[in-house]
Order: sequence, then structure tokens, then C-alpha cells
Amino acid sequence: MKLMVVGGGGREHAIIKKLLENPAVDSIYALPGNAGMAKEAVCVGIKADDVPAIVRFAKETGIDYAVVAPDNPLVDGCVNALEAAGIPCFGPRAEAAIIEGSKVFAKDLMKKYGIPTAAYEVFRDPAAALEYVRSCPLPTVIKADGLAFGKGVIICMEREEAVNAVRSIMEEGQFGASGNSIVVEEYLEGPEVSVLVFTDGRTAVPMVSSMDHKRALDGDRGLNTGGMGAVAPNPYYTPAVAERCLREIILPTIDAMNKEGRTFKGCLYCGLMITKDGPKVIEYNCRFGDPETQVVLPLLKTDLLSVMRAVTEERLAELPVEWEDKYACCVVVASEGYPEAYQKGFEVRIPDALAPQVYAAGVAEKDGKLVNGGGRVLGCTALGSSLREAIDAAYRIAEQVAFEHSYYRKDIGARALRAQEEN
Ligand code: AMP
Ligand code: GLY
Repeated sequence: MKLMVVGGGGREHAIIKKLLENPAVDSIYALPGNAGMAKEAVCVGIKADDVPAIVRFAKETGIDYAVVAPDNPLVDGCVNALEAAGIPCFGPRAEAAIIEGSKVFAKDLMKKYGIPTAAYEVFRDPAAALEYVRSCPLPTVIKADGLAFGKGVIICMEREEAVNAVRSIMEEGQFGASGNSIVVEEYLEGPEVSVLVFTDGRTAVPMVSSMDHKRALDGDRGLNTGGMGAVAPNPYYTPAVAERCLREIILPTIDAMNKEGRTFKGCLYCGLMITKDGPKVIEYNCRFGDPETQVVLPLLKTDLLSVMRAVTEERLAELPVEWEDKYACCVVVASEGYPEAYQKGFEVRIPDALAPQVYAAGVAEKDGKLVNGGGRVLGCTALGSSLREAIDAAYRIAEQVAFEHSYYRKDIGARALRAQEEN
């Protein structure tokens, strides 16, 4: 079989490595992929958001099955277009991907169907938004409606920050049209859990839970990033919490999407906060998370391609999906300075013995060598029979692949370890 994976980061590398475990897979094309995954995939110079070029390539190449991983092409209807061209795919259609593409849609859906989430107001008019944030309770959280490269959420501790956030999003167009509407919501507190769910619109198969580490620096300090590391499973997602989330959040969400005529098929990402009043939805994504995928998929025992095809063909109920009874940790090695400015072009070396455990993200090729070409460069994933073992093993890999002017957090998994001890 000839497969195609749309996207080019560590998440896509993890998906590709897992798909290759199926002996029926002859080749995988990555659009655009990156130089660090060239051993596993044929990287094609087509951008992940160029839907017409993606469809043309898939038809010309005779792709048998496609996986669309990033948010932008999903929201822009890449799956609709591939399906119309007769190519079966994994991922939601645009009408379902809106669950990530519009925060206003997601909040209104949760309100309509009684799915627990932070209380909120929607504003389309900057003057009304300004008036509201001048007297709303603090802290407050301001979210641009549309996709904003993961930067559209601003937590405001002070009044002035809230006023400035409204001005920059709605008046100055910081996130372009994504900020034409905003959500202003209640600030929630509690540990966060990422739950990725395979669903074909009928059956929900939650994957092993995970914990992202979004801030750039140790101790959850510094700027928000795309994610500096992850562990799985997440100790806050106890069997009792998992049961409650399935009943109050996951199944009702899938149901709600069906009732709205927007059946969601693919990977539904539920970003949850476990508050003192119970689990609440912080955000939905219409796709696999990054770097959560780099800890979740290595724990999947069942063949990934079989699971994905069962989703596409709406027969997920027939397929038992099994997980390793282990822990996983992923440490992201980034370019020094990320998420702000950083220098590119430093050589990146991945020893052959470690390559199976390293996921390439911001990796480019220069003069026949691999170099850093992006902010998050490598994800180093290890499994262990305890969380401690997985963390230590992931750090041993990170030490060996760290390059000149790279950095990584030293405390990935520390909070999870503390939570385990407290339980
Ligand atoms: P993202 O949507 O990935 O940019 O991330 C936003 C992050 O902001 C989440 O992971 C939370 O840590 C935080 N956040 C979002 N909404 C809220 C909220 N209502 N209360 C507290 N923190 C929030
Ligand atoms: N790790 C969070 C995300 O993928 O959006």
C-alpha cells in the first residue's frame, strides 16, 4: 500500500513510524515531512495547507490511504477534497473540524448539550468586549475564535492585560480574521489532562491519557510553546476520572456532533482540566496533539493502520484496541531562544541506535547534513515499566542528541511523579 501523511512535525513522524509497523505498507509520502524523517518517508515539497496540491499529488501518485494530521488542512476541508477524489482518509471533514476551528462553535456546542466547560461570553463587537472586560471577574481568559498557531489564548491576571488583549486581537488584528470574534471565559484551576479519542462517529475509543508541558522553562515558567514534552499515562486521569469524562464529556461530544449533522471521524483531542467541581473541557482539537502523540502512539499495541481504517469505514466497534501496560516520556529538544527568535543551521546528529526513539520536527538539510531548522527540533521518547524509568531513559536520549545552542526542559514528568506519590 502507498500511504500519504499530511504534515511535517514530530507528531507526523510518530504517526509514520507507527504506520510502518504494518507489513502491508510499502511506502509513505510525507507532505511536506522534514529531512529528519527521510529514512522512513518520501518527503514531498508540498505544504500541509496547500489542499489543491495535496489532492493533485494523491491522485497522480495513486495513494491508497491518507492521514491528514494538522489543524489547518483539516479545517480547510482537505479530507472532504481527498474523499471527493476517491481517496480514503483519516481525519474529520471540515464541518466537524470546526470543533477546533471555531472556539465560539465549540463553546456554544458545549452549552447547548450540557458538556462541562468554563462559563463564557462571546463578543463580535470590540466596544462591547472592552466594556465587559473592564468589570469582569479576574483572572479571565481571552480566546481568539479561530486558529492562531496555538497562540490565540491569553490568560489575564490584571485588568490592563485583558483590555490590551481585546485591543490587540479585535482592533489591531493580531490574529487576523481569527480574532473577529472572541470568547472571554472563566479562569479555571486544576491539573490538565490530554485525552485523544479514536472515533468513527459511533464508537469512542479513548487512547492512553497524557500530560503536555506547554511552558518553555522548568517549573512551568516562561512563554507558552507548542509543547516541550509529555508523559503518558497522566496520573490525574484515574479510572474514576476517566469513567466520568467518558460519560460527561467524550460520549456527549460525539453525540452532539452527530445531532448537529457534523459527525466527527478521526482523532478527537479533549483538553481537560480536572477542577474541584469535576472535569471540564478547556479546548477541543480535531487532530492528534503534539507532543502527546509522541508518547501515546508508542504505547499502542494494535496496528495503527487497522485502527485508522476501521475509523474511516465506521467499524471501530469491531476492533479491540490494546495498549502496553507501560509508561512513556517524550523530552523535546528545542533551538535555544524558542519560542522567540533562534538561530538555525547547527548540525543535528542522531546516532543510529537511538533513531527509533527520536522524532524529527524542525530538522532541515544543509550541505548533506541534518541541521536545526525550526523551534522544536527533536522529540526523544522512551518507555519504561515505571514513570521514573521512562523519564530517565528519555533524558539519556536527549543528552545524546542535544546539539549546539539547543535546550530542553529538565523537569518533564516531575509533576506527574509528584502526583503519583500523592495518590
Ligand atoms: P492553547 O489553547 O493550547 O493555546 O492553550 C491554552 C492553555 O491555556 C491551556 O492549556 C490552559 O493551560 C490555559 N487555559 C485555557 N483556558 C483556560 C481557562 N479557562 N482557565 C485556565 N486556564 C486556561
Ligand atoms: N499539545 C497541544 C496541541 O497539540 O495542541
